[in-house]
Amino acid sequence: MTFSAEQFRLDGKVAIVTGAGGRGNSIGRAYALGLGNAGAAVVVADLNAEGAKNVCNEIIAAGGKAIAVGVDIAKPESVRNMVSAASDAFGGIDILVNNAALMAELGYLPAADISLEQWNRIMEVNVTGALLCAQAVIPLMRARGGGKIVNQVSGGAFPAQSIYGISKLALVGLTTTLARQLGREKINVNAIAPGNVTSDAGKLLTPDDSPFVKLLEATVAMRVRGAPDELVGALLLLCSSAGDWITGQVMHVDGGWVLRP
Ligand SMILES: NC(=O)c1ccc[n+]([C@@H]2O[C@H](COP(=O)([O-])OP(=O)(O)OC[C@H]3O[C@@H](n4cnc5c(N)ncnc54)[C@H](O)[C@@H]3O)[C@@H](O)[C@H]2O)c1
Repeated sequence: MTFSAEQFRLDGKVAIVTGAGGRGNSIGRAYALGLGNAGAAVVVADLNAEGAKNVCNEIIAAGGKAIAVGVDIAKPESVRNMVSAASDAFGGIDILVNNAALMAELGYLPAADISLEQWNRIMEVNVTGALLCAQAVIPLMRARGGGKIVNQVSGGAFPAQSIYGISKLALVGLTTTLARQLGREKINVNAIAPGNVTSDAGKLLTPDDSPFVKLLEATVAMRVRGAPDELVGALLLLCSSAGDWITGQVMHVDGGWVLRP
């Protein structure tokens, strides 16, 4: 078959994006709008149900199909309700983007002193939450003959130098494990590792004048931070039939921050 750019289209597909309704300028919002523009019906899911509704309305105003769902990805029943709402609205699920996470609110917690409660909470949301969402959608993907799961990790996991980085490295492990175990069923599982992104949360964690940003701007190959929209092309590749033979990979979208062979 000759390749066609139409293979990036997602018409008729149903996508869940978690963490898509939070702070105004967020990566999840860019992902949800991008998937909607590519033709997918989008389930905009977030702990912040009001924010999810706003992004849902943006997709509908742009001519797309969407619903908003309030969800706590760390709670199995809440995740099951999200998936039921998606299935009831659109008849199935083809794409899951595990984007929700704790990040800006964490700051830089010292591993030597972090409490067990804090540690467990971070892992519960950033790792277990992604597992619960994957477990809930996999039966529906099987029913459709395949699907795509994209886990949002971070350049900050290469190497992990923070508790947040540890959680994202664990999510890389979940990505490769699910990819290995689900490949035969045509369920592709990949990760996107963004560099420093100028989302509202990114700017909160690392303001423009922070030493970390100055260091990045001096050392990253392309010398610039990224905007949420600059991640969407990679997502569309991994969620569409253009990426059918890609699984178990971490795609670094970071202007050349993490350079890997
Ligand atoms: N901004 C960056 O520089 C950067 C870099 C690398 C990776 N990331 C990752 O990208 C993703 C989005 O980041 P962002 O900058 O848009 O941050 P963000 O804080 O705007 O997005 C995170 C979203 O997750 C939601 N969330 C948190 N806990 C939840 C829960 N238990 N259930 C459901 N939703 C929950 C929040 O409400 C929020 O909307 C995160 O996974 C983050 O770790 C961000």
